[in-house]
Amino acid sequence: MPFARIAGTGRALGNRLVTNEDLARIMDTSDEWIQQRTGIQTRYWTEDGQSCASMAAEATEKALAAAGMDKSDIDLIILATLSGDAFFPGASAFLNDRLGLPGVPSMDVRNQCTGFLYALASGNAMIRSGTYRRVLVVGAEIHSTGLDMSSRGRDVTVLFGDGAGAVLLEATEEEKGILSTHLHADGRFAKALWTDAPASAHHPLRITAEMMEEGLIYPKMEGRLVFKHAVMKLPEVINEALQHNKLSLDDIDHFLFHQANLRINEFVAGAMGIPETKVRNNIQKYGNTSAAAIPILLDELLESGNLLEGQLLLLAGFGSGFTWGSCVLRW
Ligand SMILES: CC(C)(COP(=O)(O)OP(=O)(O)OC[C@H]1O[C@@H](n2cnc3c(N)ncnc32)[C@H](O)[C@@H]1OP(=O)(O)O)[C@@H](O)C(=O)NCCC(=O)NCCS
Repeated sequence: MPFARIAGTGRALGNRLVTNEDLARIMDTSDEWIQQRTGIQTRYWTEDGQSCASMAAEATEKALAAAGMDKSDIDLIILATLSGDAFFPGASAFLNDRLGLPGVPSMDVRNQCTGFLYALASGNAMIRSGTYRRVLVVGAEIHSTGLDMSSRGRDVTVLFGDGAGAVLLEATEEEKGILSTHLHADGRFAKALWTDAPASAHHPLRITAEMMEEGLIYPKMEGRLVFKHAVMKLPEVINEALQHNKLSLDDIDHFLFHQANLRINEFVAGAMGIPETKVRNNIQKYGNTSAAAIPILLDELLESGNLLEGQLLLLAGFGSGFTWGSCVLRW
């Protein structure tokens, strides 16, 4: 049974740098509040002309170059996003078109901040089963055009950024690459972090002027509940991954956690006794880019030159759904 290794990574961002001060000019918030509660200093938001698929394509081109592959090598496209180009079809159809790959199977994964881990697990399973040899896995999000820019939405709006991260998975006969994936969900909390409309659950229309006025088109979050569950579920899924691979925390060289809130990651690392030097964060620059966060983090780790052959990585994330998961990789 082949293993799936990551042959190349790439990233793309929204074109517009937005500081906390920029937000404080349009809503009742402050740089001090945002930094204290979340660690975020800046985020990148898209400009007209950018789309979820365009950023995904940009990240893919970089990943292809890094892997020394041609786009014609791609057997399957998996795109994780909660903010696709259209209501349907999935954003992977638009990515397929941008890459010029007619006939190549393309699918969306819609698991919010755990989306990349679900997509990676799916790509891994396709390779392990022998179905495909090279799978493109991308996480891409445009949050900015769906956020409430008034003070009503300040608890959510200040958190999110736009971006994309891509990895190319390739089958290998060596025992390296993805060693395990673990995925979880608990739909009892589906409405603890969600956007209500437009949606087919509304009858007879998916969206009305009243619904827009009420703000149902914007994400709503029970922040404290999300925080509480994130700091509980992340250690659980990290321990599950370690036990499965018969590894200890000390064996892991790099921990790449989803970037939802610096305080969540600091809390988890502190509670588990993971040294700060092993936990990489970039939420300070990018905010929460949901499905794009972990692949962007991985791309930056590679770029830094600190990821060495043979090292072990543990990826873990938690998000809307609730969903959570992990992946252990040998580089
Ligand atoms: C969002 C979060 C930072 C808020 O921090 P908190 O300490 O829970 O803050 P609260 O929601 O209790 O709000 C505290 C106060 O700050 C205010 N506040 C909320 N957002 C604010 C903002 N952007 N600027 C200034 N004040 C704000 C609230 O209105 C509240 O005011 P009040 O005390 O007068 O009622 C925190 O709950 C969190 O990070 N949750 C998890 C989020 C997450 O991970 N989401 C993504 C998952 S993938």
